Amino acid sequence: MSKVVDPEKREINFVEASASACPQAAYREILSGCPVGRFALTGAPVISRYEDVVWALRHPEIFSSAMDLQIALGTERPMIPQQIDPPEQTKYRKLLDPRFSKKRMMELEPAVRADANGLIDRFFDKGECEFDRDFAIPLPCNAFLHLMGLPPEELDTFLRMKDGIIRPHLTHEDMEAAQQYRIQTGKEIYAYFRDMIVLRRKEPKDDLMTYLVTCELQGRKLSENEIVDICFLFILAGLDTVTATLGCNVAYLAANPEQRRKLVADRGQIEGAVEELLRWETPVTAVPRLLKQDVTLNGLEMKEGELVTLLLGASNVDDEEFESAEDVDFARERNRHLAFGGGAHRCLGSHLARMELRVAMEVWHERIPDYEVKPGETPVYSPGIREVQYLPLVWPTGS
Ligand code: HEM
Repeated sequence: MSKVVDPEKREINFVEASASACPQAAYREILSGCPVGRFALTGAPVISRYEDVVWALRHPEIFSSAMDLQIALGTERPMIPQQIDPPEQTKYRKLLDPRFSKKRMMELEPAVRADANGLIDRFFDKGECEFDRDFAIPLPCNAFLHLMGLPPEELDTFLRMKDGIIRPHLTHEDMEAAQQYRIQTGKEIYAYFRDMIVLRRKEPKDDLMTYLVTCELQGRKLSENEIVDICFLFILAGLDTVTATLGCNVAYLAANPEQRRKLVADRGQIEGAVEELLRWETPVTAVPRLLKQDVTLNGLEMKEGELVTLLLGASNVDDEEFESAEDVDFARERNRHLAFGGGAHRCLGSHLARMELRVAMEVWHERIPDYEVKPGETPVYSPGIREVQYLPLVWPTGS
């Protein structure tokens, strides 16, 4: 007779798994043992099954994104459109979606390809690099500069601002000092974009900032606050996510040479590989939501006001949705993965991200088809967003 487990006692600990090279087995254990349960460290509800996560993502009136995360993120107001709910959020998406269409993002492809080649030129002859620092971090930041119409010299400023918000502890060990630095960086980001607004109003260009200062939302121009609240989000949502995905992909291909050889032999598989690795690795492992009403799911009673975790990483290896979910198949036919989320808040930058990932994978494997993790070294993953913070690679130089 199977033992009946009180849903309130189903404890989930996904943080450690998300920071490992292979979290999939732990996710699958969560799916089979406790698809809905409480996070072992905080007691907050965690939802894991594909069907349940999709349902939650599609009901923002119950699972709200309007959360008070200002302290954690160094912001002064909610970021637009991620921290506001429909119908308000939908208005902004209507304004932004056309600027992030597949067609528009393709226009950036030559610049991203040149950047990828330029970065590889710097270390190619050495036969080694630290992938995160030397390639995965600068590439998306450069793409963002092209999108905003900013010169490449701004790269260091953006990297510093991004890290000042996401990982202030890198430069400030003391927790209080780190938080002060985060707040100060937040102010710097607001000031940076306010200055840029003034410049583009005076001298319009063909770039995203010019669009933001000239477009109209229901017959009126966007306010300065609205524009900086959108741009702040771009820094947090559009840089580390691509960096993390690049690291996860290349770490996977370094550890699985037979899969890598398949890609090198047939570059036509790269697009499929990008999708499949987004599913398998799910670099953004989870998204938070605030409950607007009491909900009971699979026996677990969740209360209004609770902060719920939607565990995208687990949903993406759910057998109920994916055929042979534990196989990594670059030719997978039906791949409705949730790596970009879903529902109203589905990633605004998915076409940009896909283009960057495809181009990076094409250029990297043209130039460096045969590589491995430096012998004796181990890649280091971070929890939450699975950035491979340390990925030393080596390859034959032919000399
Ligand atoms: C592979 C890279 C990326 C991944 C895995 C990713 C993942 C996600 C996920 C999971 C969400 C949903 C968040 C939620 O529901 O709370 C999201 C939203 C968002 N992403 Fe991305 N993202 C990526 C790249 C980008 C890029 C390049 C941009 C460029 C600006 C971007 C901009 C955004 C924005 C603005 C939102 C909020 C959309 C809204 O709330 O309406 N993302 N992303």
